[in-house]
Amino acid sequence: MAIRVKAIIGSTSSTSHNLKLIQYMKNRYADQLDISPVFVNDLEMFSIDIENTPPANVRKFKDNIKDSDAVLFAVPEYNFSIPGALKNAIDWLSRGGDYTLQNKPGFIVGSSIGVFGSIRAQMHLREILSNPALAPTLLPGNEVYIGSVHEKINEAGELIDQATIDFLDSVVKNFIAFYDNTRNTVKA
Ligand SMILES: Cc1cc2nc3c(=O)[nH]c(=O)nc-3n(C[C@H](O)[C@H](O)[C@H](O)COP(=O)(O)O)c2cc1C
Repeated sequence: MAIRVKAIIGSTSSTSHNLKLIQYMKNRYADQLDISPVFVNDLEMFSIDIENTPPANVRKFKDNIKDSDAVLFAVPEYNFSIPGALKNAIDWLSRGGDYTLQNKPGFIVGSSIGVFGSIRAQMHLREILSNPALAPTLLPGNEVYIGSVHEKINEAGELIDQATIDFLDSVVKNFIAFYDNTRNTVKA
């Protein structure tokens, strides 16, 4: 059975390359991964005042992430870091006592129109996620930085760069082995 993966889309753009990347992955890996995009656009700004009584859409967002086998982050880079909307969503996940991400298997992909493919954003993201209140079990290595993404995704939303496709294939294969290994370790 396919692994149920919730893909957190770090972009709020309606024409997001990172969303297109996730949609491409959803189709390409449908036999192994059941990927559902999860959006962070409309979440209220986190405040400690309401962390235990979050608005309905935040509750829905947290429940949506909880109801998954694994999590995937699709990360754009804004000013050498992750976009504020993504940080806000992660702040919500870190609070309220439910620790939705803890020990959940996950991996990260990211793209930008610049040549570095969101490398700085992903470095920040890994650091943020290392907080014990978050702490998903992230696939080590396998760092997916898709630079010049606008030249690698066509009008139909398909990835057209063969080297990137081959690399993504290997990352997904590695994630599935990692996921299976994680599950076996938990069962043992
Ligand atoms: C406010 C802002 C800041 C950005 N900063 C960076 C940056 O630091 N590094 C980079 O490579 N691209 C940067 N970009 C370009 C984004 O990576 C590019 O717009 C990318 O397509 C965003 O992802 P999306 O298409 O999924 O929304 C920035 C874009 C915006 C709007």
